[in-house]
Amino acid sequence: MLHGLNRFGAAARPVGPAAGGGEGPALSTSSSPSGLLLRHIGRRRPDAGSEKPRTPMARVPRRAAAAGSDDAMALILEYMAFVDQAPHSSDVYRLMDRVLRRTRELTEAEAGTIFIVRGRGARRHLEPGSIQNDAIPVAKADFNVPVDDSSIAGHVALTGETLLIDDLYDMPANLSYSFNPRFDAAVGYLSRSVMCFALKNLAGRVIGVIQLINRRPKRGAAPIPFESSQAELVRVATHLVGNALERTDMMERIRTKNAELSRSNRLLAGQRARIIQLQAETEDAFKLSINLLARAAEIHDQDTARHVARVNECSYALARHAGMPADFCNEIRYSAQLHDVGKMSINTAILLKSGALTRKEREELMRHPVYGFEILSHSDRLKMAALIARHHHEKWDGTGYPDRLAGDGIPIEARIVALADIYDALRSRRAYKADFSHARAVDIILKGDERIDPGAHFDPGLLAIFARRHQDFAEIYAALAGES
Ligand SMILES: [Fe+2]
Repeated sequence: MLHGLNRFGAAARPVGPAAGGGEGPALSTSSSPSGLLLRHIGRRRPDAGSEKPRTPMARVPRRAAAAGSDDAMALILEYMAFVDQAPHSSDVYRLMDRVLRRTRELTEAEAGTIFIVRGRGARRHLEPGSIQNDAIPVAKADFNVPVDDSSIAGHVALTGETLLIDDLYDMPANLSYSFNPRFDAAVGYLSRSVMCFALKNLAGRVIGVIQLINRRPKRGAAPIPFESSQAELVRVATHLVGNALERTDMMERIRTKNAELSRSNRLLAGQRARIIQLQAETEDAFKLSINLLARAAEIHDQDTARHVARVNECSYALARHAGMPADFCNEIRYSAQLHDVGKMSINTAILLKSGALTRKEREELMRHPVYGFEILSHSDRLKMAALIARHHHEKWDGTGYPDRLAGDGIPIEARIVALADIYDALRSRRAYKADFSHARAVDIILKGDERIDPGAHFDPGLLAIFARRHQDFAEIYAALAGES
């Protein structure tokens, strides 16, 4: 069904039934006023039906016969005005249909095809954009023609030449390009005369090809050759047509690309939102996991879930009042609760023993900071928690454990949690003590008692902050009070 297809395709050398007949090849080459090479390939054909013997004027259509005259100039201007409207067209295929139909009207061509050059360099090919045939039905199809000498249109795209071929079945054998009649046979059409010219943009680059088939002024009559004057007529506008097609095609590609970008952007926005959601879910899962770990560590201890929550919040408040960076404050807010996670490794009998511990049992209990560090130090997210676990029993004067660090040698996060943990322990009921009031807890931390020596145990800078802001601790304890 593709008329345009029958011009091209396999590179098999066509040998038409009339090959060898006539008077031999008559090739003429000339340069047009626009500087384009025009090659006219014709043979005298005594069997050309009822046509009169060919003379230049006998083959020129009525309107184009006066090329060079005022009428011809008017025709050219009319054509140029028509194609000059092309930039206003939004559909390159509709534009090609209009251009091809108008060009066929001007040249009396029964059929024709407009191709657009696609690809770059050696990978260039012709893609049909409009195919028309008044004699048989045609349909647009998906096929490509290489830009090379394996076809007439490919040759024109390659060289920029304009070709006039009087009879495709009577072509000289010494041409570099060929015609394949296979598709004529397939669709039941007989191609004879051809005019084929390149469409160029203003830079002179070939961006398409127009191929006109069978000049047939009278329906039903035998096709006659196209004339050089017709070629001149349409070629003056090829740059306009080429440029218009290129611009329209480019605009369409830009619109398509913009639509694709918009779709991609919407997709990316959706994916970004999903990633943010997944990150939030992962963060929630992480914090839930370490909270469960902290609670698991204290299941046999006297502390409670509320205790770990309060230590988190008191540590966070103390870090903020100490002027620590926001990231530090946020990290200590979930890391503090893991300070006693090493107790998971301590024998339950020691943890739950109501009487006094033996020296060996006390030494084992005092290993819980090291056990905690070993549990937590494998995770990058828990590096602060690991330091807190290891050093929350160190004392300012260097009498703590396990490493007997002193002063600023004790990580600040561990110094903060040590103070927060002591406050909460004083406020909470234990087997060996009642729960103390806020005032009493503050008094013990700032002034000491038989067990606590503030000057020896705590960072004096943090103690000063606690002295000013201890009411915050009272509020946190009240908000998170309870044993559960
Ligand atoms: Fe501890």
